[in-house]
Amino acid sequence: MHQPILTRLSFVVALWAGAAPAFAASPAPVEGQNGMVVTAQHLASQVGVDVLKAGGNAVDAAVAVGYALAVVYPTAGNLGGGGFMTIRMADGTTTFLDFRERAPLAATKDMYLGPDGNPIPGASTETYLAVGTPGSVAGFEMAREKYGTRPREELLAPAIRLASEGFVLEQGDIASLAEGNERLAQDPAAAGIFLKDGKPYAMGDRLVQADLAKSLTQISEGGADAFYKGGIADLIVKASQANGGILAREDFEQYKVREMAPVTCSYRGYEIASSPPPSSGGLIICEILNVLEGYPISYLGYGSAETTRLMVEAMRHAYVDRNTALGDPDFVQNPVEKLTSKAYADEIRSRIDAYRAGVSADLKVNVSPESPETTHYSIIDKDGNAVAVTYTLNGSFGTAKVAEGTGILLNNEMDDFTVKPGVPNLYGLVQGEANAIAPRKSPLSSMSPTILSKDGKPFMVIGSPGGSRIITITLQAIMNVVDHGMDLQEAIDAPRIHHQWLPDRVFMEPRALSPDTLRLLTGMGYNVGIDPDWTIWGEAAGILVGGKNLAQIEDGDGTGYYGAIDSRASAGAAIGY
Ligand code: GLY
Repeated sequence: MHQPILTRLSFVVALWAGAAPAFAASPAPVEGQNGMVVTAQHLASQVGVDVLKAGGNAVDAAVAVGYALAVVYPTAGNLGGGGFMTIRMADGTTTFLDFRERAPLAATKDMYLGPDGNPIPGASTETYLAVGTPGSVAGFEMAREKYGTRPREELLAPAIRLASEGFVLEQGDIASLAEGNERLAQDPAAAGIFLKDGKPYAMGDRLVQADLAKSLTQISEGGADAFYKGGIADLIVKASQANGGILAREDFEQYKVREMAPVTCSYRGYEIASSPPPSSGGLIICEILNVLEGYPISYLGYGSAETTRLMVEAMRHAYVDRNTALGDPDFVQNPVEKLTSKAYADEIRSRIDAYRAGVSADLKVNVSPESPETTHYSIIDKDGNAVAVTYTLNGSFGTAKVAEGTGILLNNEMDDFTVKPGVPNLYGLVQGEANAIAPRKSPLSSMSPTILSKDGKPFMVIGSPGGSRIITITLQAIMNVVDHGMDLQEAIDAPRIHHQWLPDRVFMEPRALSPDTLRLLTGMGYNVGIDPDWTIWGEAAGILVGGKNLAQIEDGDGTGYYGAIDSRASAGAAIGY
């Protein structure tokens, strides 16, 4: 590889930085010897730890947490949405559950286009037409039946209690509700729950969700059938039909979870298991890491112009593939082998100019967007069973509509499809035909619940919300631990950059890059600046095994589990025991 001047400059800086590659100042990760649960809402984390302490395994805890977050984290926790679960059992077997929403049977490719052929504003995000058939309950029940050990009633009991008795709203809960109040106010059923006499809740108020408690109790008693073949489906279909939607009873009856192998790849000796299509997440993380593996990233240093430009170029190429080539595996032939191959990474590296910024317009054209209001949680138990779950309503509170009588918020996941090729979605992604709408199809996702292992043992459990940024957030948490030697909390908290091919712009969080670095990058032709939407960058949740950072793990100085919830998450907690 030809070494540009920038590389040599970075080299000098790296030498000067010497043996202290991690620099960020963050609180220490939370330590636990027997188990760790990290979620975006502290009450849900406690639910998970209580399940582990009572003898449940990580999958049991993941199921109980999934139901609990539907109560205490309504912005993204859900029964009316969908998601993914990556499981690595202590014996090293891995699996992946896809319980993402599916398009209703009556869905059509052009269902969001008006007579002029252009997208009808809000149709794919704010109306009952935006709702995909929910998958979360089916997903949790399959996980519990196949990989859990505890009875359904036991795992639902904490969620039922939190819904029926209510929970006291703290600062983080209020901040999260504040983002939805305006939209929630427009739906009488939602307003009746999430507003107090039409006004926003305040800190110290108790949020009781009686209808949701009733729905959870029905699921506890009747299992997934209570949701998909019983009164809950009836109420959601009734609300949909009364409000211009297309959900039908058959959509619920025919819903099926898909179990498949995770996408796998290696990065500097670590085995990665992550989400396969219908998520783009695992594939694109692998593609970017494969490209970056060919460069001395650790040596070049965190936040240097050289590291940043290599990351940006790898992201640029990978997001072209994400946005043009990928879709639901039942409908599209996804180039999984190619995108995860080291040879393809070689080819991409050969196309990266050592001196000048790449130009997105020169790469194949396509693209659609995604919402940041998803949630991720990571769990590990005393035996080393590890679970990573990312699930979502898509936008914050989904459609912000509740089917009357259910207490269940409904997703707007249909917006993750290509509404019209080339037209950016809610979050600026421009997508193509592979992700076109079709009945029973799942929209392409970026959710990336990921588990790393080494020498047959779990090493890291990681994931994040963040729409199209989920991929680069998860990627940077991995790089910060593996390449930059940060401890887990630092790795998650460190300011981030993001590039998604289109728009051709390097987004950064405030202070992610120094003024000097910005000058160097600008000089090379990069359009780089603070993301105007930087407050929405996702809140990662992770666990490291055997040490708080790589040095401690490699020295064998640490034991147990180290958990970290993103400092950007104001209601979350890592709780170990
Ligand atoms: N709705 C966010 C995602 O699935 O990536």
